[in-house]
Amino acid sequence: MNLVKGTIYTNAKKGQVSKYVYSHFMEHLGRCVYPGVWVGEDSSIPNDRGIRLDVTQALKALELPALRWPGGCFADNYHWQDGIGPRSSRPRRFNLWWHQPETNEFGTHEFIRFCRMIGTEPYICANVGSGTVEEARSWVEYCNSSQDTELTRLRSENGSPEPFNVKFWGIGNENWGCGGSMEPAYYGHLYRNYATYMRKTSPDIKLIACGSHPRVPEWDGIFLETLNRAHHLVDYIAIHIYSARGMSDLNYSDDDYYELMGQVQIMEEHLERATALCRAYSTNAHQIGLIMDEWGTWFKEAQTETGLYQNSTMMDAVFTALSFHLFHEYIPYLYMTNIAQTINVLQSLILTEGPLSCLTPTYYVYDLFKGHKDGTVLDLSYNTATLETPGGREIPEVSISATYCEEENTIHVTAVNLHLSTSTNLDLALDLRQIASVHGRVLTSAEVRDHNTPKNPDVIKPSKLDVQQSDKSLSFALSPHSVAAISINLTD
Ligand code: AHR
Repeated sequence: MNLVKGTIYTNAKKGQVSKYVYSHFMEHLGRCVYPGVWVGEDSSIPNDRGIRLDVTQALKALELPALRWPGGCFADNYHWQDGIGPRSSRPRRFNLWWHQPETNEFGTHEFIRFCRMIGTEPYICANVGSGTVEEARSWVEYCNSSQDTELTRLRSENGSPEPFNVKFWGIGNENWGCGGSMEPAYYGHLYRNYATYMRKTSPDIKLIACGSHPRVPEWDGIFLETLNRAHHLVDYIAIHIYSARGMSDLNYSDDDYYELMGQVQIMEEHLERATALCRAYSTNAHQIGLIMDEWGTWFKEAQTETGLYQNSTMMDAVFTALSFHLFHEYIPYLYMTNIAQTINVLQSLILTEGPLSCLTPTYYVYDLFKGHKDGTVLDLSYNTATLETPGGREIPEVSISATYCEEENTIHVTAVNLHLSTSTNLDLALDLRQIASVHGRVLTSAEVRDHNTPKNPDVIKPSKLDVQQSDKSLSFALSPHSVAAISINLTD
């Protein structure tokens, strides 16, 4: 058993974690939208006007801040007018990237309804690769305008007289790759054009530019330089980073596990580079923020032929928790992250099989970390041992993050024990404040490769964590490969 001792500096506030860091992404890919969300009104699977209820209930409980849609690569192949009007007359289209016909049953109105059902804000990604400026601009008008125009009359005829007021708009996706194989300077010129017309249509929207990927690290710098005096048109740059490429979802070795944890540092390197650029191009009048609107594990089982389906084990949970701890360090520039993808695709929160569904360990990490949303990151110190990954990276055995929620007068602490075989005792002290009560939950499993399936959904789920408390300190034990969340209610 290891021992970690630490101190939380209750007055050393480092800045606020944007709640949008805990956001999501869903694409018309594999079984994510059909039938992960949309089963149709005639389905025997319980649904509300076509939208399945088990998934809705589970996502609503997470209080997700934003949901990105319709892609991904699909976004630059999507023409929004195909997805409005009577469902029976919507066209069946060729889904260029994911090799499955697109029925267009789930379009803008269904997406907005789904967002409202789960209580999240919509984030729409417009088509640059195969679309036009007017197509993107008119989508903004259709969603957000309250002028009496042909498009807003159409929205009304389609059941929504009131504007949807969509705040977040992406201008293309991975335009260096599936979104048109563009050069960053070419995209920069297009971006100015799209952004000008979209913003003029709805001045309060937030515009999100396609950013880099580890394969094209130079993209952000060239793009920002090309914008010249038009940086005010960019609210956020959206970078993408996937981890675990080449590894297996279930048949991974212990070395693979540690290697994946080391890959959090690759995310850090890209966050560092992109944040520096945001800082360099921000002014007092206009700050450019960072979004990571695709991230997570991508195992070798997730192929186009399998609809990018993969299983999720405790390894995914530990990786997610560590990633969130990293994201807390990138305030205030890192504004939003969207794990890929919500249902049945890549590092999902929910897996479905016919009428059955299960919550993955990744889902439960979002649940355990709920308290951090909009919290103020607190400084802390602790003495953890380190491990060396097979690739030579040094990673901590234990990772801790703490935020303060003023409204609740509560400190939320999350702690991760990365070690695969050794438990750790954690003794944490508060430097100044006094503890009124504590409440802890932990997510772990006997074997790191354990996972939930729709037929066997309860293998892994959070349980109560025993926490000993005194006036100014607390202690608890963390078993191997576990993630814990402790709320510390303070005396006034
Ligand atoms: O999330 C799967 C795919 O990964 C997305 O469509 C694309 O943007 C990325 O390459």
